[in-house]
Amino acid sequence: MLATGSYAALLAAIVVVLAVLPSPAVATQLPPSCDVGSRYVANSTFQANLNLVEAALPANASASPAGFATASVGAAPDQANALALCRGDINASDCATCVAAAFRDARQACPLIKGATVYRDACVLLYASTQFLDFITDDQWIPSELV
Ligand SMILES: *[C@@H]1O[C@H](CO)[C@@H](O)[C@H](O)[C@H]1NC(C)=O
Ligand SMILES: *[C@@H]1O[C@H](CO)[C@@H](O)[C@H](O)[C@H]1NC(C)=O
Ligand SMILES: *[C@@H]1O[C@H](CO)[C@@H](O)[C@H](O)[C@H]1NC(C)=O
Repeated sequence: MLATGSYAALLAAIVVVLAVLPSPAVATQLPPSCDVGSRYVANSTFQANLNLVEAALPANASASPAGFATASVGAAPDQANALALCRGDINASDCATCVAAAFRDARQACPLIKGATVYRDACVLLYASTQFLDFITDDQWIPSELV
């Protein structure tokens, strides 16, 4: 389980990013960032788990009043973890659309790669085979990477 403080730090970092992102009218879409150090094999258990996370996360994030959801399917080393956060001023349907599109972009841009981060105008998505506490403790996920 994640320590509450670590979650709070991660969320604070993401909220800062959403706050500083340019407004939709002038935004240029950032390409997904691929965690090229982690790869999976086609049709593997990890891929099946990631597919399940991808299928569930848009609805789960949009159903949350905060526009925020995490999802985790499977067990290590095949565990797929993801986190999505929608901008506060978009509605549930736009939230779901954004998270689904972010996942689609990342899967296309990062084929057979276990982890990616995507910033879109309306949402942030990240997924990985490691749990997000590891991102923080291993300094693989630090606020300076976000800007
Ligand atoms: C993975 O599954 C797809 C669809 O069943 C198949 O076309 C493809 O050849 C498989 N790839 C590998 C590496 O097994
Ligand atoms: C999505 O939300 C439902 C309802 O809360 C939950 O049962 C399900 O496990 C969630 N899916 C994932 C992949 O976390
Ligand atoms: C959600 O917001 C978008 C953009 O503001 C709008 O076009 C759409 O009709 C809204 N959808 C719902 C279900 O309110």
